[in-house]
Amino acid sequence: MKKYTHIAVNQTLVRVMVWATLLCLPFSSKADEGMWLPHLLKILNEKEMQDAGLKLSAEDIYSINRASLKDGVLQFGNGCTGEVIGSNALVLTNHHCGFGAIQYHSTLQNNYLRDGFWAKNQDEELHMPGLTASFVIRIDDVTATIMDGIGPNTPEKERQTLIAQRIKKIKAEKEAGTHYQAVIKPFYYGTEYLCFMMEVFNDVRLVGAPPSGIGKYGGDTDNWEWPRHTGDFSLFRVYADRETNKPAAYSKYNLPFKPRYHFPISVSGVQPGDFTMVMGFPGRTQEYLSSYGVKMITDVLNKPRIEIRTKQLKIIGDESKKSAKVQLQYADKQAGIANAWKKWIGETGGLKRLNAFDKKQEQELAFMKWVSVGNPNRFNMYANVLEGLKANYMELETFIIAQEFLREAVYGTEALGEILRYRPLADIKNDSAAQVWLKNQPALQNEFYKDYDVNVDLLLFACNMKEYATVVPENLQPTYFKDLVKIYNSDFTAMGKALYAKSWVTDSLKAKAITNPKNLKKAKNMVGKDPLFELAMSFQTKFEAEFKARSAALQEKIELGNRLLLQGMREMQTNKKFYPDANFTLRVTYGKVAPYKPRDGVEYQTYTTLDGLVQKYDSTVEEFRAPKKLLELHKNRDYGQFANEKGEMPVAFIARNHTTGGNSGSPVLNGLGHLVGLNFDRCWEGTMSDVMYDPERCRNIAMDSRYLLFIIDKFADAGYLLKEMTLVRDKLGAEKQGVTPNTEKK
Ligand code: ARG
Ligand code: GLU
Repeated sequence: MKKYTHIAVNQTLVRVMVWATLLCLPFSSKADEGMWLPHLLKILNEKEMQDAGLKLSAEDIYSINRASLKDGVLQFGNGCTGEVIGSNALVLTNHHCGFGAIQYHSTLQNNYLRDGFWAKNQDEELHMPGLTASFVIRIDDVTATIMDGIGPNTPEKERQTLIAQRIKKIKAEKEAGTHYQAVIKPFYYGTEYLCFMMEVFNDVRLVGAPPSGIGKYGGDTDNWEWPRHTGDFSLFRVYADRETNKPAAYSKYNLPFKPRYHFPISVSGVQPGDFTMVMGFPGRTQEYLSSYGVKMITDVLNKPRIEIRTKQLKIIGDESKKSAKVQLQYADKQAGIANAWKKWIGETGGLKRLNAFDKKQEQELAFMKWVSVGNPNRFNMYANVLEGLKANYMELETFIIAQEFLREAVYGTEALGEILRYRPLADIKNDSAAQVWLKNQPALQNEFYKDYDVNVDLLLFACNMKEYATVVPENLQPTYFKDLVKIYNSDFTAMGKALYAKSWVTDSLKAKAITNPKNLKKAKNMVGKDPLFELAMSFQTKFEAEFKARSAALQEKIELGNRLLLQGMREMQTNKKFYPDANFTLRVTYGKVAPYKPRDGVEYQTYTTLDGLVQKYDSTVEEFRAPKKLLELHKNRDYGQFANEKGEMPVAFIARNHTTGGNSGSPVLNGLGHLVGLNFDRCWEGTMSDVMYDPERCRNIAMDSRYLLFIIDKFADAGYLLKEMTLVRDKLGAEKQGVTPNTEKK
């Protein structure tokens, strides 16, 4: 028998007991947390949802026998959600999800990003190459087939090989004779496996988008924050083969897909306390990390990456103020850097405030207690899990920053990231293969240099290299880099200037020479001898030679540890409902519209209005420059039928739905399953919900569906789109007076 080791000997037994009891409480004590699997709602959530205000059954939400809400929800591209809101497959998603497509079709003359875009009829809709819309047809549990014969004693390598083989086989079997894609994914760190049959459409066209002054109102300043006034939406349409209504490659002969379901849109809004639910494809959460995993996020990872990004953002911000051109070139990059940066700050703050580490330690103490009092099998299985995790994280900690800074500092320097793309020229031995590779380069180069400013990048280089030299342990820095630091006496600006002057990658004209297929030898020489290539490669090869494999092996051990820990926790708390971490599969989450207290003495209300948008208006700051017409509509209170009962134009609201990245564009539904909002963000004080949910402070942010209708109808004069939709007025409040809720068609 293995030796039992206490994980925290200084804790009292009383505390252990309290925690053991707390952990065994039924789920209701943590209401609103959870990203639930649609096919399990019936067993796990239906009653609780109905008690909270849902008027539908689980079968109405997910059914494989008839049309259900899930048929109106789609994965938009690879990272967002969208929903069908019209019988001709009109799709609603966020502006920031449609951003790429809007930008793709924008030119200086027709700047749809800035000015908005509205197709007046289907002929004017704009196809976006590569954009997909994927519906879930069915969810099947394939755990039994995948795990057949695999047990706790199966060696990890063998387990992985077997699972990979079986996934391949099941996928082929499921797809045979269908036009669906079978997506099989692990849940609970690979304890269970589900197969999602997806119908993937690839003719998706842009229908409408508001100007940035609405769709991105508040920009990065307001991002992740409440109160919010962003009209973060865009409209698309899914097209299908005209004969079969099945997915087809783009063709002008395709017709709008005839969807199985589209969401009615409620113009009745929501009140504090109202039930809401969100359906969508949340990307990644880590709710079952050990205390050591939490510490790695807050103390090891987030801190240095927040610091380096703070500096990068200052550089880009300062340079953007000096030049309108730079501002345009770096807007998207800045938004990208800022989005994660701001989330990490909020996340660290939230985890510290929740004492997440201590809470996890206490849970782990209770776990070890449970392990020690159980039968020998339990003891053998779990006694070393936490010790192992602790040791693995400690080892990972010694080099994880070097790995992280490869992305933050090396790839975060545009010239270094760009020149590393040319590595195949140095690596490919076969000339004709190299020539094939070269073919794509002119287009990629155009894309890169269009938004490249060498002076901004030089500032980024100096900043990033200095951070790298300071933060990454010296033994993990490549010798080539350390020599340069010595040569330039730690003057990173001088280093950058010298290297940038000698490199071709910093100059688009020089870079062009590389793409000439007749001069392959010269191109190879140019790459191999470039000082920035040598520098970039030194970082990359140091990583590959010294810690890439180690890192992968450790992450694998951690994954195994997490799997065991979660398995044990689930065995220990048999009456607690567990939901699997987000993994870009379809989930349902539900929670009430609720205010919250971000800090002492402050309470945030549940909704914002156009009045607040106008209060934030600032003609001198691009992020707060709303279009004139919107201001006029506000001045005249010209809200049509979309004002609330107080005569205000509602813009956004918050609720206790447990969401994450990937839930952007998700439908926010009322108890009748009608669309009351469009999810687009989370509140700052609750961004730690990817790791630990706090019902007191975690809120999702949705755009009010009445604002959507108002912008389409009154602002964009695209009221013809409303004709495709089903608008309803809900009398949900009526139930309080004992009247059955009903719905009137408008
Ligand atoms: N924070 C939201 C999300 O995580 C919105 C991001 C896009 N908006 C922005 N201002 N960068 O994706
Ligand atoms: N904006 C996020 C997205 O793009 C959703 C907000 C969140 O992370 O909750 O998916």
